[in-house]
Amino acid sequence: MERLAGQRILLGITGGIAAYKCAEFVRLLRAEGAEVRVVMTAGACEFIAPLTLQALSGERVRTDLLDTDAEAAMGHIELARWADHVVVAPATADTLARLAQGRADDLLATVCLATAAPIAVAPAMNRVMWDHPATRANIATLEDRGTAILGPEQGDQACGETGAGRMREPAMLVEDLVGLLTGSGPLAGVRVVITAGPTREPLDPVRYLSNYSSGRMGFAIAAAAARAGADVTLVAGPVDRPSPPGVERVDIESAREMLAAVEARISGSELFIATAAVADYRPVEHAADKIKKTDEGERALRLTRNPDILATIAARADAPLTVGFAAETGDVVAYARSKREAKGVDLICANTVGHGRGFGDVASTLTVVSAGGERTLGPARKDALARELIALLTDELDARCRPAERLKQ
Ligand code: PMT
Repeated sequence: MERLAGQRILLGITGGIAAYKCAEFVRLLRAEGAEVRVVMTAGACEFIAPLTLQALSGERVRTDLLDTDAEAAMGHIELARWADHVVVAPATADTLARLAQGRADDLLATVCLATAAPIAVAPAMNRVMWDHPATRANIATLEDRGTAILGPEQGDQACGETGAGRMREPAMLVEDLVGLLTGSGPLAGVRVVITAGPTREPLDPVRYLSNYSSGRMGFAIAAAAARAGADVTLVAGPVDRPSPPGVERVDIESAREMLAAVEARISGSELFIATAAVADYRPVEHAADKIKKTDEGERALRLTRNPDILATIAARADAPLTVGFAAETGDVVAYARSKREAKGVDLICANTVGHGRGFGDVASTLTVVSAGGERTLGPARKDALARELIALLTDELDARCRPAERLKQ
C-alpha cells in the first residue's frame, strides 16, 4: 500500500555529509506514492549532484532563489503553495539558525518562510555543535513555532566522534512522515487528553498566584502524541506558546477551569497525561477591586485547597490510563512513589525542579514510576523525552488492550 499517495512533499537538502542519504530518502518517498520536489542549497550541491535527485524525484531540482525559468520568476511562492509538507533533511546547524531567524536569502529559507505547510527538520551535525547553546536555542525557537524535529540519532559520526547528531535513517524519516501526514502512527484512533503549563489563581483583577511552568514539557508531549497519530486535546494554562500541529487546544487560567475543561473531554479517552503544574491552593477571596496596601508591615493571605484534577480523573469508573508528573526539589523518586499511590494513578514521571532545573527550555530526566518498577528516560531535551515517553505509553496501552482490539473499537 502506498501510504503517502497524493502527498506533495518538498524536500530541502542542505550542506551536510548526510545529504547523500537523500537519494534513498527520495526513492522511499516515491515508493510510498508521494510527489517529491527537491530544493538544494549551494552547500548541498557540493555533497550530492542535483541530477541524482532529479532522476529519482522525476522533477527539476531547484537551487536558485532568483530563477527566471520558474513560474513568473516566483518559484519560491509556487513551491511554498505546492507543498503539503516541507521536510529539511539534513538540516545543518547553520540551516537551523537561519530558519529560526526567518532568513530569506536563499530559495530554501524563503520557501520555509513563505509556506503555510507544516515543516519538519532532520538535524545532522557534529555532536558538540548539536549540544551548543546556540543550537539548543534555535531548536527551541523552531519547536515553539510548531516545527517537527525529527532526530537526530546517537551513533558514530562522519567526523570520527560518537554521540547525538546523526541524521535519522531515511526509512525512519519516512515512518515519521507517514505518522505526521496520515495520522496512522501507533496511536492512531487513540484519544489523549494532556494538561500543560501553570495555572493562575486570581487574588484581585491585577494579581494572581502562579508558578514557573513554561508549558514546554506538556506541549512537547502533545506534539509527540499527535505525531504518533493520536487525537490530542491539550488543556493549557496561560503560556505564550503556539499550538503543536494537529492538536486541539483549550486555554484555561485557573485549576478549577482546568478541571472543568478536562472533565468535559475525558470521556472516551484512553490516556490522560497531567504535566501541568497546578496550584494546590487558591486565595479564599478573589477581590472584585484591586487590593490596596495598608500601613501594616505584614499581611496574611488565606488560601483554600484546589481540586486535584489527576486524582479526580484516576478515580472515575471509566478512567483512562493516567499519567502524572511529580516535580520535586529533592528525593524526587521517593515523593513520586507516594504521590502515585496517594492519587491512584497508573504511572508517575518524577523530575527535579528548582535552581535552574526542570522548568522551561532545559534538558531534563524523567523517572517513570509504575507498579512494576521504574524506568529512567534522559537526560535529554524535552521533545526527545516526550517521544520516548509516548513510545513507552504506547507499549503500556498495547499491554492493556492489544492493537487488534483497539482497531475494532
Ligand atoms: O512546563 P515546563 O516548564 O516544561 O515544566 C515542566 C514541569 C516541571 C511543570 C513538569 O515536568 C512537571 O513536573 N509537572 C508537575 C508539576 C508538579 O509539581 O506537580 P504536583 O507534584 O503538584 O502534582 C502531581 C501531579 O498531580 C501532576 O501530574 C499535576 O499535574 C497533578 N495535579 C496536582 C495538583 C492538582 N490540584 N491537580 C493535579 O492534577
